[in-house]
Amino acid sequence: QVSHALKSLARKEEWKHRLQQSEELHDILLKAANRYVAGEKRSDGLAIARKLQAKGYGISLENIGENTKLLAQCREAKMEFDQLIEDVGAIAPGQTVSFDLSHIGLSYQFDTAYGHLIELAEKANEHEVTLMISMEESTKTDQILAVYRQAAELYSNIGITLQAHLFRTPDDLRKLVQLPGKIRIVKGAYQEPSHLAMERSDYLNNRYLELVDHLVSTNHPVSVATHDQKLLEEMERRQFLQSTDVEIEMLYGIQPSQLKLFKEKGYQTRVYLTYGHEWFLYLCHRLAEYPENIYTALIDIINP
Ligand code: FDA
Repeated sequence: QVSHALKSLARKEEWKHRLQQSEELHDILLKAANRYVAGEKRSDGLAIARKLQAKGYGISLENIGENTKLLAQCREAKMEFDQLIEDVGAIAPGQTVSFDLSHIGLSYQFDTAYGHLIELAEKANEHEVTLMISMEESTKTDQILAVYRQAAELYSNIGITLQAHLFRTPDDLRKLVQLPGKIRIVKGAYQEPSHLAMERSDYLNNRYLELVDHLVSTNHPVSVATHDQKLLEEMERRQFLQSTDVEIEMLYGIQPSQLKLFKEKGYQTRVYLTYGHEWFLYLCHRLAEYPENIYTALIDIINP
């Protein structure tokens, strides 16, 4: 219930308005968000990305946003990603830019999202950057996969995120391994109806392992995007992490010491880092998926 409340709170326009109106409220909540978000500007994201890259981590950078409804805003978001690709490419080759398709056009029109994705893929090719498409609510899965499939047939530098908690995912995976793009496996962040998705459980963890097993055994590039220590240890025991096709990817600010240990063991590691004016939405997501973070947020506000 707490998770659900936080997720719907994040989307309320009223909150955006309140944050714009009150500098004090904006600054207080930003202190809590700073643990997970680089800042409001692209340069904030790039500054942290450079430091992480110098320490040996791969980077996935995202300008936070979703459900853009107006064409002009979709274009604006796409132009921000154009610039981000250039800047991320200048840090080092092999970095990643991540985004929601609904940020760059899917909530406006299928063709807008597809057109923008193709333009971004072209630019990313020039700058040796990989694009990773995030996975959103199950109501959008078919559309996201349709846009991805069409684009990934033309560009091998586009990857896709799949949610292990959805019952449909093993079928989707079987079809998607035909395409060259990297597949990021996550447990799933959205509250879904029980006939579509399973809860956090051993059953879900086993499903996660089966998906990764399938990818590793077909030598497909995969990002294991989880903070679950037990799950990661099991992947290590099964020799999944040792594969050169596999990288471990974690969200900035969540259990960084754990990712550091994996890096020190020699595994490929990547930090998913975000920036942007929609940081409140992102903060609510991080609190919702792990409500204990509410206490951490309070401490960050009192003692930043
Ligand atoms: P789980 O939720 O079972 O948590 C395992 C343990 O990890 C917890 O017990 C806790 O110790 C720690 N932990 C997890 N979340 C934490 C948090 N917020 N704060 C502190 N500790 C935490 N989802 C989605 O639906 N679509 C997407 O596109 C993406 N993209 C994405 C990219 C990357 C790189 C990552 C790491 C994650 C995503 N996600 C996502 C989010 C994902 O679906 C999932 O909600 C979170 O990763 C949390 O799930 P875990 O796998 O960590 O396991």
